[in-house]
Amino acid sequence: MSETKRGSFTGSLGFVLSAAGSAVGLGNIWRFPYLAAKDNGGLFILIYIILAVSFGFTLLTTEIAIGRKTKQSPLTAYKKINKKFGWIGPIATLVPTIILPYYCVIGGWVCKYLFTFITGEGTAAAGDGYFTGYISETAQPIIWLCVFLGLTAAVVLGGVNKGIEKSSRIIMPILLVLVIGISVFSMTLSYTDAEGVTRTGLDGLKVYLIPNFEGLSFKQFFITLMDAMGQLFFSISVAMGIMVAYGSYVNDDTNMIKSINQIEFFDTAIALLAGFMIVPAVFVFMGQDGMSGGPGLMFISLPKVFEAMGGAGKIIGILFFIMVLFAAVTSSVSVMEAIVSSIMDRFGISRIKSAVIVTVYAIIFGVIVCLGYNKLYFELSLPNGATAQILDVFDYISNNILMPFLALATCILIGYVAKPKTIIDEVTKNGEKFGRKNLYIVMIKFVAPVLLFFLLLQAIGIL
Ligand code: PHE
Repeated sequence: MSETKRGSFTGSLGFVLSAAGSAVGLGNIWRFPYLAAKDNGGLFILIYIILAVSFGFTLLTTEIAIGRKTKQSPLTAYKKINKKFGWIGPIATLVPTIILPYYCVIGGWVCKYLFTFITGEGTAAAGDGYFTGYISETAQPIIWLCVFLGLTAAVVLGGVNKGIEKSSRIIMPILLVLVIGISVFSMTLSYTDAEGVTRTGLDGLKVYLIPNFEGLSFKQFFITLMDAMGQLFFSISVAMGIMVAYGSYVNDDTNMIKSINQIEFFDTAIALLAGFMIVPAVFVFMGQDGMSGGPGLMFISLPKVFEAMGGAGKIIGILFFIMVLFAAVTSSVSVMEAIVSSIMDRFGISRIKSAVIVTVYAIIFGVIVCLGYNKLYFELSLPNGATAQILDVFDYISNNILMPFLALATCILIGYVAKPKTIIDEVTKNGEKFGRKNLYIVMIKFVAPVLLFFLLLQAIGIL
């Protein structure tokens, strides 16, 4: 977008809501719980929170400040900070390009479940094997992928972003209330399996919250660290240029630190709460073995929770999937918008043309991701211990390899070339207090780059 056309947010609330709309999405509700379950609950959560307040805060501040300082899209913003680092921009736009197709596949799963609950088939969805049966079909997941992608493209094309900003004010609080309500109900669950073992929601809660260090190997610890870091990037939408773009719309008199704290708090709270809702329920119904269920976890466990609620569960199920769909669309819109606007900037074509190209691309790759569960099924072992299908491979390349790499490059750019002062000056230019200033400097210069370097080695399987 050219500088003359550059709009700006109406106030800090507009900025916070839009950034939160991008941040809060399937990452919080679908991805966080399944990683927490896979990586020994409590330990993952502990690491995630420590990373969020140190590392996440550092990166989020850096990107939003780069955006506001340069007033440019990520494609050119990095070049403006330093000529030699211009390449970060184009590589950063590669990340949303990888994410978009598979994000829309999962968005399609959400649409399918919403439809299932609306048509009163919730009980069937609670049955064992329903989810696997569904994704093994060839046609249906592709149709629902197109539905979700169509919704996303319509928003990007229709320019109804303002409307979304407004509805966020209503929908986000409802989502929060629902998630809290369902979490509380999850704690009251109890189930006796075929072997006569009874597990309760409170047993599950312990697994979710209490770190278990017993027999923990160094490798497992490192894997948990790597997963938590990848999740953090994904969840707060950093290391892909999106927050640079948002930063470029922030007014010069907005108190960025305050806004950033609000965005992070909200994003982390929703993720933790989604975990409360899903992880104990998985433990209750499927035991320890169910915890490594991976991407399907939310779709397998929640219908069982709704079923256990009886009649009310049918309505809560509908409401829940509507809210998740909304959160997913606000995020996928920001993913798609990042690619569409980069293509417009780079090749000087119209918004419509650019959106059509991106949509066709996302359908092609989305279909490949869908076929990964049937026609193109394989089982690949990833360095983070997960058994991967095509979706997981895409997810791994963007979140565990490209994002840490981009974050590392950003740390070097700001820590050593442009110097942390560039960011600190931008953030405090209206005399704001920067409470974690020293932490920021230490993080961006030392802790973050070292950690990222080792994580990267681990992610590509060298360590
Ligand atoms: N942060 C979003 C989520 O948690 C996903 C997302 C990824 C959004 C990449 C924008 C860019 O669901």
